[in-house]
Amino acid sequence: MSTLTIFNSVPAAEAPANAPAASGRSIPAVLGADLEVPVKGGRLVGYANLDYAASAPCLEPVSAAVAAALPAYSSVHRGAGYASQLTTARYEQARHTVRAFVGARPDDAVIFTRNTTDATNLLAGCLPEGTTTVVFDTEHHASLLPWPASVRLAAPAFPGEAVRAADEALAAIDGPKLLVVTAASNVTGELWPIAALAHIAHRHGARILVDAAQLVPHRRLNLTALGLDYVAFSGHKLYAPFGAGVLVGRRDWLAEGEPYLKGGGAVRSVGETAEWHDDPEPRHEAGTPNVLGAIALAAACDALSATGWTELVREEERLIARLRSGLASVEGVRELSLWGDDHPRVGIVSFTVAGYSAREVAEVLSSEYGIGVRDGKFCAHPFLRHLLGAQDADGGCDDDTTSAIRASIGIGTTQEHVDRLVEALRDLVSR
Ligand SMILES: Cc1ncc(COP(=O)(O)O)c(C=O)c1O
Repeated sequence: MSTLTIFNSVPAAEAPANAPAASGRSIPAVLGADLEVPVKGGRLVGYANLDYAASAPCLEPVSAAVAAALPAYSSVHRGAGYASQLTTARYEQARHTVRAFVGARPDDAVIFTRNTTDATNLLAGCLPEGTTTVVFDTEHHASLLPWPASVRLAAPAFPGEAVRAADEALAAIDGPKLLVVTAASNVTGELWPIAALAHIAHRHGARILVDAAQLVPHRRLNLTALGLDYVAFSGHKLYAPFGAGVLVGRRDWLAEGEPYLKGGGAVRSVGETAEWHDDPEPRHEAGTPNVLGAIALAAACDALSATGWTELVREEERLIARLRSGLASVEGVRELSLWGDDHPRVGIVSFTVAGYSAREVAEVLSSEYGIGVRDGKFCAHPFLRHLLGAQDADGGCDDDTTSAIRASIGIGTTQEHVDRLVEALRDLVSR
């Protein structure tokens, strides 16, 4: 399998009929693009938001879709009134939009959750009895921790090693098995060979869950063409910060699993005992759902699809290449990478600065330059320890030797933001 086949999501020509068309419209704006923030001395400067991987700003079309839905906002699945019907229709339409956005199979379940963490936990509660999960140490905690029984694999030295290690681990497991892997690392931005891993999983009768939280804001994903069983992601990383996420995938485990929340909506009838819905969506969406979150998430999917991935990816790759070469030119700055400089990645880069703690660097960038980055361990403690070669045998993570700084970009990031970060670091190390 070629590198391109493994790492790229599906080219338009291979997309199934339900995939949204890329029309190549201009890139939409984000709210807050003109936000000014105070820096030392009381001056105001334009905010350089380089923290998209944590939470991306809201796209204007997303905010507009929420504003348009609000006047008729009413109950979902519960009212005969016109506003209830309209709101219910918008909520259900959001499901169809998300299904198309990820190229899901027509019969896949689309369950709205709070976020990716909620989605992985939901699936964890629906695994058939005795399921063993295989997961790499490189995962975000949302994908590393929810599993009742898991085999943890060490960070692989190269992509083919990831496939080989998964192959060996899955072969050794009897009974139901699930491979869990991220599509794009939240630490290094590197793309994982998810198509090859899906192939291996299926060869062993396993299923695969892909954590797409950091992929979908940057690349097109096609669940069907990649052969994935489940994907999970969050609206707030996809320019839709209204508190919704999603789990998409095969219905059977979800139809049999214990309802995620027990209460109205999940239940068909209640007597001495409760009779739960078999359909995964009502079964796992008890209570009043986050309608506006779902509408926002769907609006983001629509906006990205309408813009066209080619244009989005081209601009992101230009900026991330500029950022990485800028960082490489600053003495003492070390970029973190699992699979080397040339490995394909999304718009995320983590680094350390010799002689400074990650917290110090992040604070200086904010207070003196108006730049927002993330510092810490990015909810990926084992991976940070691996990348930084830390020797804390007790697994403790509180010291700063296992922390780094992360800059992440997306729609609305400008060349000036990227250049400002590089020059700020150059200033800092020359003090
Ligand atoms: C790869 C990855 N998975 C899962 C999550 C968890 O997302 P959320 O906090 O929205 O549940 C994150 C968040 O940083 C992430 O980067």
